[in-house]
Amino acid sequence: MKNLLLQVFLVILPLTMVYGQCTLKEGLPCGSKVKLVSGSSFTISSKSCQNGLYPKRENCGWYFEVDGCKPSLNCDKMALKAKGRKCKGDRLKVETENRRKAFCRKEQLESGFTDAKPTEFFDIKFTTNGRGEDAGFKCTVSCSGETPTIVAPPVSDCNCGKANRKHKTVGGSETKVQEYPWQVAIVSPGQSLPFCGGAILSSNTVITAAHCTIGQSVGHFKVVVNEHDVSVDDGQEIFDVCSKKEHPNYSSNTKEHDVSILTLCKPISFTKTVAPVCLPDQSRAAYDNVLSTVTGWGTLFAGGPQSDVLMGVDVNTIGNTDCDNDYGGGIIKDSMICAKAVGKDACQGDSGGPLVTKEPGDFYSLIGIVSFGAGCADPDFPGVYARVTEDLPWIRQNINGKQCGANRNISPGS
Ligand code: ARG
Repeated sequence: MKNLLLQVFLVILPLTMVYGQCTLKEGLPCGSKVKLVSGSSFTISSKSCQNGLYPKRENCGWYFEVDGCKPSLNCDKMALKAKGRKCKGDRLKVETENRRKAFCRKEQLESGFTDAKPTEFFDIKFTTNGRGEDAGFKCTVSCSGETPTIVAPPVSDCNCGKANRKHKTVGGSETKVQEYPWQVAIVSPGQSLPFCGGAILSSNTVITAAHCTIGQSVGHFKVVVNEHDVSVDDGQEIFDVCSKKEHPNYSSNTKEHDVSILTLCKPISFTKTVAPVCLPDQSRAAYDNVLSTVTGWGTLFAGGPQSDVLMGVDVNTIGNTDCDNDYGGGIIKDSMICAKAVGKDACQGDSGGPLVTKEPGDFYSLIGIVSFGAGCADPDFPGVYARVTEDLPWIRQNINGKQCGANRNISPGS
């Protein structure tokens, strides 16, 4: 329900922005859902219209999930057209688990607003009527306290490539629920069985195969995150795709550069079970003969039924020369990487899904994207993947939104 509301905001707002010529000059867009951790700081502000004032009949919300810190609001600009202590008229309303307060004048916020008691959320809404506007507001939402002892300064407040598991698993079976938090399903609107897989690269960016998206408009697919069993409602979240880009050198004949980037209409909030995969280091080009894992909801054997639950198998990458020999010569190009294991492979429906390998430091990076194969798990024909290292600059250029860093700390015993 809340999701639906957010989607409605996002659809309506760009329209009012165009017709009223009001633009957001800085800060998070309306409808943003963001996680606050100790040290987080985000700007929010009112849009500014041609007359320098904020829009009439505005209804804009920012939803913060608080993770173990004390959230606060500080404003260096706060001028809303409203009356009285409760700000009747236009107002910025802040709500936590314990408090609710409306703001419209600078002096109400001299020392900021915080909630002394713990809260799991910090929601802010800006609503205006149609009767008179003012200059608007610009505020910072930050979160402080309860800083864990930091060994090395963190690159960012989130990590990429962290598998969600307590115990190690051995490949070849159903994955543990939400074990691979970067896995997404790509579905047709209204469908639950994915036609392709993909992986989260950032809050707004998903990577998949070009052959999954080519020739289709963005309205023809949705991205599902936090999914495990597609036959039940188990916490999955559906995202609209606002734009897509296939690699400029993708060829539907040769399947070279089978990579596509989807930009989501609203950002994904990262949690333990929804998080990005890391991209490989530019310097480590080869990744030949490494143990890797491919995951997806594809068919359980060539021509068989698709799996309801996310499956994962461990396979070994092989060199391109060996792979090209298997395929008869001239098929395996530089932008591809092959992988195989006895009785294990990706299959139809797994396309676009991630092939990951574990790096020193206990994080996973994306080395391949399921592309094609002759049959599935045929000992004579390895699975073929788009080689991520080959297209890294293009991939990096097309990432939008919040990214997470690899936690390269190597702790003893990991
Ligand atoms: N092209 C297939 C798809 O669209 C993926 C095939 C992968 N096959 C393989 N044997 N690894 O789902």
